[in-house]
Amino acid sequence: MKKQFGKTDLKTSPIVYGCMGGAGAFGAQEEKDSIEALRGAYEAGLNFFDTAEAYGDGYSEQLLHKALGDKRQDIVISSKPRKENFAETDLIASCERSLKHLQSDYIDIYLLHWPNRDVPLEDTIQTLETLKKQGKIRYYGVSNFGKLDLADALSSGDIVANQLPYHLFHRAIEFDVQSLCEENNVPIMCYSSLMQGLLAGKYRSLDEFPVNRARTTLFDHKKWEECAHSRPGAEEAGQKALDDIWALVDETGLSMEELAVGWLKSRKAVGGVIVGTRNAEQSKALSKLMDVNLEQGIIDKLTAATDEVKAQLGSDIDMWGKGRTR
Ligand SMILES: NC(=O)c1ccc[n+]([C@@H]2O[C@H](COP(=O)([O-])OP(=O)(O)OC[C@H]3O[C@@H](n4cnc5c(N)ncnc54)[C@H](OP(=O)(O)O)[C@@H]3O)[C@@H](O)[C@H]2O)c1
Repeated sequence: MKKQFGKTDLKTSPIVYGCMGGAGAFGAQEEKDSIEALRGAYEAGLNFFDTAEAYGDGYSEQLLHKALGDKRQDIVISSKPRKENFAETDLIASCERSLKHLQSDYIDIYLLHWPNRDVPLEDTIQTLETLKKQGKIRYYGVSNFGKLDLADALSSGDIVANQLPYHLFHRAIEFDVQSLCEENNVPIMCYSSLMQGLLAGKYRSLDEFPVNRARTTLFDHKKWEECAHSRPGAEEAGQKALDDIWALVDETGLSMEELAVGWLKSRKAVGGVIVGTRNAEQSKALSKLMDVNLEQGIIDKLTAATDEVKAQLGSDIDMWGKGRTR
């Protein structure tokens, strides 16, 4: 079940556990639930855990240690410094803080969370190389790097992963960055795989989606006050896609999560599908996601169901439309 992750010698599960929700990103969260969710993910066979210093200001990393500190040798951890901390002394301090929070001597994969064009990327990569030589990180990579930023990163360092938003309702990476990742053996760790729950089989209509999550470019900024972008969205096409996906749930007998994750697993450039859960019950469903392997006919139907959304939303990979990627 575990496969070599890109150019690294790490063996990772196809599903990566996303630790952001455990730190309260989606609303009030009991620590006990977060810990049980993490342990449940490990019991379901996941060995790859994704966190960041920004998730609860280090709390997510602390939770990971609390839940799975005794399994440190068996798991692979990716963490991410904030983009404000890419200058040499800040990045070193960030890494030290993360190690302290994780109570670990090393981070397996350290990903630059978002591009920061105010700090020369070559300098940041030089610092990552130093951290790697010191054994504090085993590998490094990037997150939210589009084609141009990734090309710059690839010319300066040994990038082992690009963490990107990728799911049935946000296929922007297919326009260009996906092929660059594939050509350079840089596996994509896709995030928001369940579109923050929209693809978890709970909503029949886009209108039912919680307002604090309906902030992405799929949604019309005039209708959803929490949007930071000023775009019209693609809600009509989005609703049609959601209806079609529900029809496939009925046709196949698979859950919506299995369809959404199975589709991502079928993409060649994807090296890990990140899924976040909130409690032990949700984590139980992860073992099915580890096993799911869709027939080509179903994959094609899911692709066709979301082609119009893809066409309308275009190639901007910043899911929130804040212009942070290129
Ligand atoms: N690099 C980046 O910039 C970046 C940005 C965002 C996320 N990420 C990473 O990606 C991870 C996951 O992405 P995401 O947090 O956007 O969310 P996601 O995985 O797309 O969706 C998580 C939500 O799906 C619902 N869910 C999951 N399993 C379920 C089940 N079995 N039954 C019912 N509902 C279920 C839960 O919704 P409820 O809350 O409604 O229960 C959960 O909060 C994060 O934790 C983080 O590691 C990275």
